[in-house]
Amino acid sequence: MESIYREYFKRPATAETMIFDRSRKKESLNGHWHYAVDQYDTFLRQKWFNEYYYDERGNTLPVDFSFDEWELMTLPCCWNTVDRMYMLYEGSMVYTRKFIYEKQSSDERMILRIGAANYICRVFINKKYVGMHRGGSTPCCFDITDYLEHDNRIILQVDNTRRSGQVPMENTDWFNYGGIYRDIDLFRVPKVHVKDFKIALEPDSCFRKIRANISVSENYSGTALLTINELGISQNIEVSKGSGEIVFEAEPKLWSPEAPKLYDVSLECAGDKVSDRVGFREIRINGMDIVLNGKPIFLRGISCHEESAEHGKALTDEERLENIRIAKELGCNFMRAAHYPHSERLAQLADEAGMLLWEEIPVYWGIRFNSEDTYNDAENQLKELINRDYNRASVIIWSVGNENPDTDDRLSFMSRLAECAHSIDKTRPVSAACLVNTEKNAIEDRLEQYLDIIGLNEYCGWYTAEWQMLPELFENSDPQKPVIITEFGADAYAGLRGTITDKGTEDCQAYVYERQIENIREIPYIKGMTPWILYDFRCPRRTSVNQKYYNTKGLLSADKKYRKPAFYVLRDFYNLIKDK
Ligand code: GCU
Repeated sequence: MESIYREYFKRPATAETMIFDRSRKKESLNGHWHYAVDQYDTFLRQKWFNEYYYDERGNTLPVDFSFDEWELMTLPCCWNTVDRMYMLYEGSMVYTRKFIYEKQSSDERMILRIGAANYICRVFINKKYVGMHRGGSTPCCFDITDYLEHDNRIILQVDNTRRSGQVPMENTDWFNYGGIYRDIDLFRVPKVHVKDFKIALEPDSCFRKIRANISVSENYSGTALLTINELGISQNIEVSKGSGEIVFEAEPKLWSPEAPKLYDVSLECAGDKVSDRVGFREIRINGMDIVLNGKPIFLRGISCHEESAEHGKALTDEERLENIRIAKELGCNFMRAAHYPHSERLAQLADEAGMLLWEEIPVYWGIRFNSEDTYNDAENQLKELINRDYNRASVIIWSVGNENPDTDDRLSFMSRLAECAHSIDKTRPVSAACLVNTEKNAIEDRLEQYLDIIGLNEYCGWYTAEWQMLPELFENSDPQKPVIITEFGADAYAGLRGTITDKGTEDCQAYVYERQIENIREIPYIKGMTPWILYDFRCPRRTSVNQKYYNTKGLLSADKKYRKPAFYVLRDFYNLIKDK
């Protein structure tokens, strides 16, 4: 690593520095920021953040930046979609703006929260380096109190360069958007404040116990008060050296996709007050069944990326709601939010709308499984995701990766991640999207022993030409846990017709869906499926005349205005089974 960067990897924001932010009064920093494209990281090399405009004798110095005369960009956004000039840009961008700070209480701490920036984000306040965050899809918090004056300059440096040691590494099958693409907020907390608040129904299949875990800053010891008025709950929690836990009796109306009941839950501790809207449900594995609130379910799903034709990864709530609505029209009760943590807004909207979710960290393909730094990055993203979405009833599965070769290093790396997820969250199953064991044409992956549900990506009829391989795959397999077919599908160039064997036509895609469904529906150990994928998405690896840098396995076109025949094949199947 070049020496110029060494200083600017210090003080990383991690899962441990996250602060529970739901319901807190936010002072938004969204809006106009001045920005510059910084291809050579001159900002760091010349330390522009020091704003040296004069030498010690007062002579003006030639500077190569002009923060407040730079052009403006409206954040949050992906720079790729706001200006064609930046569509394919990968590297660093520098953003800056000013803001006023007026202290409101003597002991308050001012927290900067960035919802997501891809991939590295560095924070500078009033000429000083504050810290950094790595990971392109999870939030980070910085306590900036000690850097603040009345008039403040904030500078964010974002670098979306793909690197082999990162998570994901430099080769993926999706587009590498760049920028700060989720909300940028300030919020105030008292010195003693709620850092983390996790609450869920106790997974004991009695549906009458709720467990809450809290962590409080400053190693606080004392009492917290948890209230759920609609359930008549007002429960003290003893907090000792900064943490407290309670299990109490309650009989909530259970949350489900069909009846997404949410409760207002509030927590007060040492003058700090937070709240959340929480659904209480139980998801567990019982033998070969995935069981929701005591009833075995089949997960009628669809995979989706976090992308819109207009906004890249910076989806609007309307676009997220549209995706949920289309999934429901398909007859889905489940969506696989691939291959990285989507916005927390998806899970919040899914809680309200009644949609189950698979959430995943981007341990994708062949990352650097023998690197402890890479492991720490992956584990931190997993912990940040679980911290962020633990209270979301819609989230029923944590996935620790996708399509990773079954090597010893990968087994060690991903089994550690699975055990990490199990240790933090005892209320959800852990999975991963595994590959077919092609030597045996069987569902056989050493990682399975660490998973609760086996995800399987198989592309019979597309990458595997012989249809006979599919029934043989299932006959050759004897999984001891429920299986979800996490990917099957075929490219179809919207509007292109042909025969069922003409790859790339809508007829071929629809036929693949028909054949896949007729095989999958006969296999008792398959308890769900999330075909690849809801709609076409940008993909730099796909350059053929009809793909034009898109992966066209979508059931809809990228703008979601056109539905391919396979959409109706899947919909008819889900409608057929949904009431069984
Ligand atoms: C893989 C991978 C996806 C990819 C898909 C495809 O299974 O998980 O990210 O887009 O195949 O080849 O279209």
